[in-house]
Amino acid sequence: MTPVIAIDGPSGTGKGTLAALLAERLAWHTLDSGAIYRVLGLAAQRHGLALDDSGPLTSLAAALPLCFKDRKVLLDGEDVSNAIRTEEAGAAASQVAAHPGVRAALLEWQRRMARPPGLVADGRDMGTVVFSQAPLKIFLDASPEIRADRRYKQLKEKGLDANLPKLVADIRERDARDRSRAVAPLRAAEDAVLVDSSQMSIAEVFDRVLEEVRR
Ligand code: CDP
Repeated sequence: MTPVIAIDGPSGTGKGTLAALLAERLAWHTLDSGAIYRVLGLAAQRHGLALDDSGPLTSLAAALPLCFKDRKVLLDGEDVSNAIRTEEAGAAASQVAAHPGVRAALLEWQRRMARPPGLVADGRDMGTVVFSQAPLKIFLDASPEIRADRRYKQLKEKGLDANLPKLVADIRERDARDRSRAVAPLRAAEDAVLVDSSQMSIAEVFDRVLEEVRR
């Protein structure tokens, strides 16, 4: 079986950066599962679908023309890498991701991403559902204030609009929705290694996780 490193945790903990660093070091593939839900949210909005109407959303998820290519995210061939990174797209992703049918429709697609020599997958349910057999599971956490502050800096660096109090409120709201949903709620797998990155740099987190990889 292709080895998988499953990295889960709430928004803004640095999961994506950690996954990219690990994949580069190991020369493995990556799966940014959040991008799938973000693309679905965007596609739903473009099709004028209500984000609480599970039937049409599930059909859309089952036939989502999504492709990851050269670090770009393509929806029906269009590069939507930037369009899916807004706070609105994150909120839409969290809403579409709450539907059990949507998650079921995307399960096999995600599992097919596990190709040799290995996969580093990040999201909310990599260790608990999608890759529950993964030999290494990391649960990355940090306080909401620190996560909002990191997001604020990221947005500013990209020259995008950012409002810190609103980011804290948005993060708390998204956390609450992700943790309380009936299907695949955000939680650490029982066998996950817990890493709190509040007081750690990304380099420190990377070193800490590499120790686990080498075990
Ligand atoms: O980058 P950030 O951590 O803020 O978000 P993301 O990983 O891109 O995920 C966006 C949203 O998609 C999350 O708030 C979750 O609701 C949902 N998601 C999920 O339900 N399951 C996953 N495996 C990944 C993301």
